[in-house]
Amino acid sequence: MKTTARFLSFEGVDGSGKSTAVNRLARFLEQQGLTVVRLREPGGTVIGEQIRDLLLDTNSRGMTPVCELYLYAASRAQLVQEVIRPALQQGDWVLCDRYTDSTMAYQGYGRGLDRDLIESLNRTATGGLLPDRTYVFDLAPEEAELRRQGRDQQAGDRMELEPVSFKQAVRLGYLDIASRQPERIRLLPARRPADQVAQLLIQQVREDFLQ
Ligand code: TYD
Repeated sequence: MKTTARFLSFEGVDGSGKSTAVNRLARFLEQQGLTVVRLREPGGTVIGEQIRDLLLDTNSRGMTPVCELYLYAASRAQLVQEVIRPALQQGDWVLCDRYTDSTMAYQGYGRGLDRDLIESLNRTATGGLLPDRTYVFDLAPEEAELRRQGRDQQAGDRMELEPVSFKQAVRLGYLDIASRQPERIRLLPARRPADQVAQLLIQQVREDFLQ
């Protein structure tokens, strides 16, 4: 099937079932004959993966919120220029696990950094490139935490080690962001088995783009 390029992003607190659902969506789209580029943030480029290591390493415990903000933005700038724009120009579908809304939710609502600054930094990092649609997986952080513990026994990365109050602020941030931009952002209730969350996502993307 030949359709125009699409740029989709996926958001939510850690452990919301997002990665499984996005993997399933990618497979579904490929079965429709589409070329899919699957990315994650931070990372996705050689430079971005190094920034990712810095950001998520538990040895970076002393990182200041402002340092953190600029590193996420730096990784994004590289990804947009090196990978996302060229892929969209080729007509590919770009699926990005986290994008600008993560920075607003985590560094803005979570860390309490200035939201105008974040908006402006996001614009600079992306050159104003926004996703066609963003899907937010909504789940209470306490439940996400239980899911995460069931999934892997390893100690969490630096962000996962944040207290539940931080994650609650992030979740409320996502809900607020979604309510302000209903034309771009779809909220997906993620308090259900991972299989059903994936089905819900695929159904929503079909409605949004393939019918
Ligand atoms: P990752 O393991 O990719 O998380 P997930 O599997 O939940 O997507 O780690 C990325 C972490 O970085 C995650 O805790 C969210 C956080 N983050 C920010 O705080 N700001 C950002 O701008 C981005 C992109 C991610």
